[in-house]
Amino acid sequence: MKVCVIGTGTMGNGISTLFATKGHEVSIFSSRPSSVERGIATITASTNKMVAKGKLTQEEANAILGRIKAGTNKDYESADLVVESAVEKLELKKSLFKQLDEVCGDQTILATNTSSLSVTDIAVGLHHQVVGMHFFNPVHAMQLVEVIAGLSTSRDTVEWIKELSLQLGKTPVEVEDSPGFVVNRILIPMINEAIFVLAEGVASAEDIDVSMKLGANHPMGPLALSDLIGNDIVLHICEVLQAETGDDKYRPCPLLRKMVRAGLLGRKTGKGFFDYNK
Ligand SMILES: NC(=O)c1ccc[n+]([C@@H]2O[C@H](COP(=O)([O-])OP(=O)(O)OC[C@H]3O[C@@H](n4cnc5c(N)ncnc54)[C@H](O)[C@@H]3O)[C@@H](O)[C@H]2O)c1
Repeated sequence: MKVCVIGTGTMGNGISTLFATKGHEVSIFSSRPSSVERGIATITASTNKMVAKGKLTQEEANAILGRIKAGTNKDYESADLVVESAVEKLELKKSLFKQLDEVCGDQTILATNTSSLSVTDIAVGLHHQVVGMHFFNPVHAMQLVEVIAGLSTSRDTVEWIKELSLQLGKTPVEVEDSPGFVVNRILIPMINEAIFVLAEGVASAEDIDVSMKLGANHPMGPLALSDLIGNDIVLHICEVLQAETGDDKYRPCPLLRKMVRAGLLGRKTGKGFFDYNK
């Protein structure tokens, strides 16, 4: 299958690698050619790391990397599937999908990896349907895909994405088009609460994470998880949940907002609640 992936960040790179690992031809896109080059370099480095760890042979790694290339408009025309994984901004996604609607063939299924935005809203005014195909971070390790039908998404498209998710070795769950879907609706308020606990001085960042790991049996503490997701993404999801539901229980902690303003976004910038440069 020919797949176009838009976005060369944490998720876009993981999604591209997953599709290429399963034998699909992947064309990658971003806002700038330099970002595409960086994306391919990141994917190459992480695939080579898998070889060093003995999880892939050099031949398998070469085959995966050989299936990934920088995309052109021609790739959109002939694509079977486009997975959009650009930044979580509604206006940006709407404008990207408007362009995709014009350049993609009628056969192309358009999917978004949005964490919280309305799939129905993204699809307004388009000739193509849009479906939510929500992967989790890190893509290679996380088993779940939330499959989201917007108001104009057909049953056939939902079933096709569920079947594809199974072929990718994932477990699909069908979810209504509702803010944050299932996982982030529950997870993000928990992370936000952990940040309030930190801001109020109830415990240190280390002790908050140890508490949730040992006291709630979570594999990872909420602050380390926020750093992994990206603190900007966590803030954005809080804002979407609050705006869409009108419920202030989703109000982002001011400390989270301050950290995002300071560029303390977590692993991707080297520092967040914890320091990854050490
Ligand atoms: N981070 C997570 O844990 C996670 C999990 C599931 C879903 N998501 C969703 O995946 C999407 C991407 O998140 P991320 O964490 O990879 O973000 P990121 O900040 O790591 O990367 C965003 C990427 O968007 C791309 N981009 C920006 N403007 C663009 C444009 N105009 N055209 C094309 N590409 C553009 C860039 O390549 C950039 O690298 C978001 O919708 C996010 O909500 C994130």
